Amino acid sequence: MTDNAQHALWNGLAGQAWVQAQSLLDGMFAPFARLLAQAQPAGAVQQVLDIGCGTGAVSLAIAARLGSGGHCTGVDIAAAMIERARQRARDAGLEVDFVVADAQRHAFAPASVDRIVSRFGVMFFDDPVQAFTRLRHATRHGGSLHALTWRSAAENAFMTTAERAAAPMLTLPARDPDAPGQFAFADPDRVRAILTDSGWTELQLTAIDVPCQIPRRDLRTYISLLGPVGSALRSADIDAATRARVLAAVEQAFAPFVEGDSVRFTAACWEVRASAG
Ligand SMILES: C[S@@+](CC[C@H](N)C(=O)[O-])C[C@H]1O[C@@H](n2cnc3c(N)ncnc32)[C@H](O)[C@@H]1O
Repeated sequence: MTDNAQHALWNGLAGQAWVQAQSLLDGMFAPFARLLAQAQPAGAVQQVLDIGCGTGAVSLAIAARLGSGGHCTGVDIAAAMIERARQRARDAGLEVDFVVADAQRHAFAPASVDRIVSRFGVMFFDDPVQAFTRLRHATRHGGSLHALTWRSAAENAFMTTAERAAAPMLTLPARDPDAPGQFAFADPDRVRAILTDSGWTELQLTAIDVPCQIPRRDLRTYISLLGPVGSALRSADIDAATRARVLAAVEQAFAPFVEGDSVRFTAACWEVRASAG
């Protein structure tokens, strides 16, 4: 997929889905927002940049933690997601800047940032070395990177349950582990090479296994909106009967994750830290 394809994806079906499912996803990924916010020194006079900030949960959590002395800016390629993030900042009375930009190509002011954070927003660059070099130039000497990314699809069965169940009924795009996408940072050697080639130092990749959940009542919404199956189910090409069959089969496939009123899974991720030293 080219950068234009990522731009189109996140300004199209994927971005719309993330806006529509914002509260569901923020509940699901709340442990990751907490992890990034709690690592933020409270009240620090720091400039923080949230890459691929989406609808803004992490930026808002960091801004609340920083207070008036520091400042957080969220950057995302998807205009609708940034619009939602801005609305949320206004509603929360928080001063956060949200910028619509491609973080790989954006001209960030040099040495203007103390800390770069990201919750699942840095795996979509078609030239990750260009992106991480720019992000390093944006970071002041001694500043840091703290990003959360997914480990492999094999270690994250929940994330591919829908497409495996739907595969006999739908033609879905193949997942290419080396192409921009959810699992593009699964291989730790690849991540280390990208960061080293971009000039980052003191790399630390820590495997973390994080319990996540959504309410059982939200499972159908999750399936209908998100990932490749969600996109296929919302496409104009699918007829009502196939849609109903796919939904039923996929919902059934999630049965092993249902516990009472909740759907629970463990997210297998990398906590990536580096220094702009
Ligand atoms: C999986 S979502 C995560 C969103 C958000 N960080 C969260 O946790 O809710 C990935 C985000 O990366 C954004 N993104 C993808 N490519 C980007 C790029 N080149 N520059 C900036 N944002 C990008 C997408 O628009 C999307 O909002």
